[in-house]
Parts: sequence; C-alpha cells; structure tokens
Amino acid sequence: MKTVALIGAQWGDEGKGKITDLLAQTFDIVVRYQGGNNAGHTIWVGDKKQVLHLIPSGILHPHTVSVIAHGVVVAPEALYRELEELKKTISITPDNLKISLNCSIITRYHQLLDQAREQIGPTKIGTTGKGIGPCYEDKAGRRSVKFYHLLDQKELRKRLSEQLDEKALLFEQRYHISYPSVEEECERLYALGQILKPYLCDTFSYVEESLNQKKRVLFEGAQGLLLDIDYGSYPYVTSSNTSIAGVHSGCGLTNHTLDGVIGVVKAYVTRVGEGPFPTELKDETGEILQQKGHEFGATTGRKRRCGWLDLPLLRYAIKTAHISHLVITKLDVLSYLPSLKVCYGYEYEGKILDAPYPGLDLSLVKPLFKEFEPIPAEFEHVESNTNLQTYLNYIQEELKTPIAMWAYGPERNQIYRCQDFS
Ligand code: IMP
Ligand code: MG
Repeated sequence: MKTVALIGAQWGDEGKGKITDLLAQTFDIVVRYQGGNNAGHTIWVGDKKQVLHLIPSGILHPHTVSVIAHGVVVAPEALYRELEELKKTISITPDNLKISLNCSIITRYHQLLDQAREQIGPTKIGTTGKGIGPCYEDKAGRRSVKFYHLLDQKELRKRLSEQLDEKALLFEQRYHISYPSVEEECERLYALGQILKPYLCDTFSYVEESLNQKKRVLFEGAQGLLLDIDYGSYPYVTSSNTSIAGVHSGCGLTNHTLDGVIGVVKAYVTRVGEGPFPTELKDETGEILQQKGHEFGATTGRKRRCGWLDLPLLRYAIKTAHISHLVITKLDVLSYLPSLKVCYGYEYEGKILDAPYPGLDLSLVKPLFKEFEPIPAEFEHVESNTNLQTYLNYIQEELKTPIAMWAYGPERNQIYRCQDFS
C-alpha cells in the first residue's frame, strides 16, 4: 500500500501515535492534515517519553519526512517550543520537516476566546483551551491569518485588525478580559514567522510530486471520528474533519486515491471533555480502566472518562471513514478486569440500532451488552489465550473488518502484527 490514512475510530486517544510511529519506519512521508496542538500523541521509545502535539510522529525516524499540511491550525509559539524540545535529541531540518505556508494561524485572540467561553459559557464543551474552535471559525469566516501573512508585517497587521474588530467587543463587554493590541500580536507573530520561515513551503506540490514518484505517504489523523465536526457527537466535537474528508480538504491527494484506511480502536472507550457517552462506566470498573490505562489527557492532563467497547460507534466509524483495517490497542489494560462486556447494539425508541447516524442524540440510547470471559495477561502466548482470541474474533466478525494489528503495551515491540502495510 502506497497511501494509507490512519484515523482514530472513537473519541481520540486511541493510541494512534504509537501505531504511526511503527508504520513510519516503512513510509517515506507522514502528513498531519487537520486539528492543531489540541492533539497529544505519547510515544515511548525505550524509557524515553515523547509527547507530540503538532509535529507528525514520523519525525522520530531519520529517513521519514514530516509534513504539516494546510488543514492544520498552527499556534506558532507552541510549534516553536515543540521543535526546540525535539531538537535536543533529533535532527530537524527543512529537509525532514515541511510546513504549509497556507496553514491558518491560531492567534492569542483565539486562545483567549476559547478559554473565556469555556469558563463563562453558555455551553461548556470541555475544549483543550488551545483556541482551535475560534481559529477554524475565523477560517470559515474568511478572516484567517495564514502562515504566509506572518512574513509580511503590513498584511499581518491588517488581518489581525480584522480578527480583533468584533472580538474586542466580546473581550471588553462580554468576558471582561484584557487582550494584546494588534501591534503587540503583530510583533510576536512576525518574530515567530522569521524563526519558522525555513520550514515553510508549498506542501501541496511537495506531496503531489512525492505521490507521482510513487513514494509511500501516511496520513496521520488527530482526535477521533466521534469528534468530527460533521459526523461526531455535535456540539461536543472538535472543529475539524477528523474523518477521511480531512485528508482531501486538509492536504489533498491530487490525482491519487487512498489504498487503505486504518481505524485505530482502543480495546475500551475513553473520552475527555463533556458530551454523551453511552457505555461510560462510573463505577469501580471505570476506575480500574482509568488507573491501569493511565488515562490522563496528554494535552490537558485531565482524567479521561472510561467505558466498555462500543461496537455501534465502530460500525459508524467504519462506514463514514471507509476504514479497511482495524488496529486494537491497550488490550493489556483489560487483563486487570474480573469481568468483561462489549456493547453490540443500542435500544432507541423501542427499536434496536446497530449503528448511530449523524444527529442521533447518544444521551438517549440504551446500550445492550454481551459478556465475555476475562482476558488473562498472557499476550505473548496468543495461541493458548483463548479468551483473548474469542474477544478479538467477535470484534472482527461483528465489524466485518480485519484486525491488522493489536497492541498490548506501550513499547514498540508490544504489538502483534497480523498484517503489514508494505
Ligand atoms: P477542542 O478541539 O480543543 O476544541 O476540544 C473539543 C473537544 O475535543 C473536547 O471534548 C476535547 O477534549 C476533545 N479533544 C480535542 N483534541 C483531542 C485529542 O487529541 N484527544 C482527545 N480529545 C480531544
Ligand atoms: Mg491524544
């Protein structure tokens, strides 16, 4: 397979970073195409923990080129800090990191607005507070500051004035918070533009040429399908297309198609922030999953809510994102549980649904469960671990999609590969 997209099939934090990291060894290019530094990928390389927010996981492999394509919203200061941290151990140059000149920029105004809305309302979404939503709002409102504006002070000043125009009223009269002047913000962003300039280029043409040269390109999704602005549990979603549409709008495949879409699935479900969660466990079992799975947000440090694996959500993810292969992660965490359940359908208005649809209020569905025998921790001996086999076979058959790999620990070697993607 030459072109593969890897997306989260739940509410994010499925362990995508670890899988991209593994696949990146055999891909020439890894592309981020949506979201921003709301994402957080934790990857363990030996005993060293790497948390990536904006830079694709390919950066950890010397021969792989990392691309931040135009659909990503970039906070230049966060990008700069992440770069400086990574540069302590990795060589990063314009040859192995390419950032689109056309990315929309997250300004201080976006961050302040996001945080003020979360504190004061009217609706608390439980965002990461990084300014993602307001930045995408300005993009849709045709007021984006693009990366290329950072290289032209006059244009930058003009765009920032446009952004602040209505927001100043909100800051002063609605939220009562102070904010930087256009001049201050212009100086800050211009300086960052000068630092980041060497990495900026036309990534669209770079990816196009690479695809024409038959290079292998991996598209690394951030967040998960249920956080998609169109397909997710609206309004408790992020503001980008985390599903497959994001690859097309946020990077572009030019005249090529995707050879495969990998849906990454955690062996249970987690969610950070507000919003409905049909299989949520608010009891001791949920507590065990949270503790043993170290379920804390990599970006915000918040505790993640935990629940049983939800097959209706996965059927929905598979059809909306054209998922061709599944990767199941964190199976080891299930081995701490004395009993095991999987949700196979929803009861809704007297009917049984095998999958949700856009707009269905997930807070109104009743999950239906099937029980399984607990899974012993012998993951190295899959042949004799029949409970594990039963669990995996059930998932695969119910979802009519092959499991290509499954992971049972954070290390690079704790992954069982049924198929490689070469
Ligand atoms: P925002 O993306 O910061 O606007 O947050 C919107 C919703 O998406 C909130 O529920 C966040 O917790 C969630 N979210 C955003 N990014 C991630 C992520 O990378 N993993 C998990 N949840 C996320
Ligand atoms: Mg994450």
